[in-house]
Amino acid sequence: MTIKTVMVIGAGQMGAGIAQVFAQANFTVKLNDLSEEALEKGLNGIDKVLARNVEKERMTEEEKSKTLANITTTSDIKDAHDCDLVVEAVVENMDVKTKVFQQLDEITPKHAILASNTSSLPITDIAAVTNRPEQVIGMHFMNPVPVMKLVEIIRAIQTTDATYQAVEEATKALNKAPVEVEDYPGFVSNRVLMPMINEAIYTVFEGVAKPEDVDQVMKLGMNHPMGPLQLADFIGLDTCLYIMEILHDGFGDSKYRPCPLLRKYVKAGWLGKKSGRGFYVYD
Ligand code: CAA
Ligand code: NAD
Repeated sequence: MTIKTVMVIGAGQMGAGIAQVFAQANFTVKLNDLSEEALEKGLNGIDKVLARNVEKERMTEEEKSKTLANITTTSDIKDAHDCDLVVEAVVENMDVKTKVFQQLDEITPKHAILASNTSSLPITDIAAVTNRPEQVIGMHFMNPVPVMKLVEIIRAIQTTDATYQAVEEATKALNKAPVEVEDYPGFVSNRVLMPMINEAIYTVFEGVAKPEDVDQVMKLGMNHPMGPLQLADFIGLDTCLYIMEILHDGFGDSKYRPCPLLRKYVKAGWLGKKSGRGFYVYD
């Protein structure tokens, strides 16, 4: 199947980036969110990133205009009626996601593939709420989407080879690198990354070192581009906690228990960069 028209559901930090990279690769993109305000915020973010690309001579002004012209925004999910692929990037909440997938199953053409950008939720369970489980798949982009090369492609137990191949082909058309992964808690990316972040939070919790010193150790000692606490703030501490809970519940192993300090920060609304405060304070 050839994918031409794509809807991205959710115009937040991930959805906006996903819409941008599809539009840059000349797909027709419909960006959907609940409100005009969220759509405007998403589109403004895309415009800023593209303007930076023009300024840095990575893109011409014409390419920028063409990319923006490939994106339309809509708060009506029914506009997915002619899409070949939908990539869902709404909040990391199973109830919200399953509702969206049930709606999409009703609205989209029979051939359409329904993908989720979930960080950790089981694709098999999401697929099971639709009448086309063989056409449901995980398409896990990394943050920031325009910069990061990887797309982890997660096969639900029901996903067919034809669905996998169509999504792999689309990923390559975005100039991204697909990696095939089976559907287990945290997939590969977050099963490896999140316990490291959680352990970094434990070192602060136990008074081993201050956040900036933990980050320095990993940046200067291990050549990580961001320290684990800076990265946790960047991802969102609510998302980090959610993923740790999925790992803990999914494997039933105490090594995945979320650090109490992470729970406390999330309860306090200290969600990282997006809320202005996490392990660091932001303007
Ligand atoms: N959107 C688009 N481009 C961005 C960007 C964004 N949000 N943030 C940074 N960039 C671009 C900048 O434009 C910049 O290029 P120019 O200066 O040439 O324009 C380039 O990236 C480098 O940015 P900076 O100089 O500002 O800062 P940096 O060198 O520290 O790089 C970074 C920023 C690329 C984010 C880097 O710090 C990094 O790679 N951090 C780790 C990111 C990471 O691990 N991501 C995965 C998170 S886990 C995940 O996504 C999965 C999940 O389910 C939670
Ligand atoms: P975000 O909070 O920035 O954006 C979510 C957007 O979804 C918001 O604009 C919200 O208005 C919208 N939304 C909520 N319910 C909706 C609905 N029913 N229909 C349409 N739009 C709706 O979140 P984010 O960080 O972009 O994360 C989105 C998804 O991507 C989550 O599943 C998350 O786990 C995953 N993810 C996040 C990261 C990360 O680093 N933040 C990385 C990879 C994957």
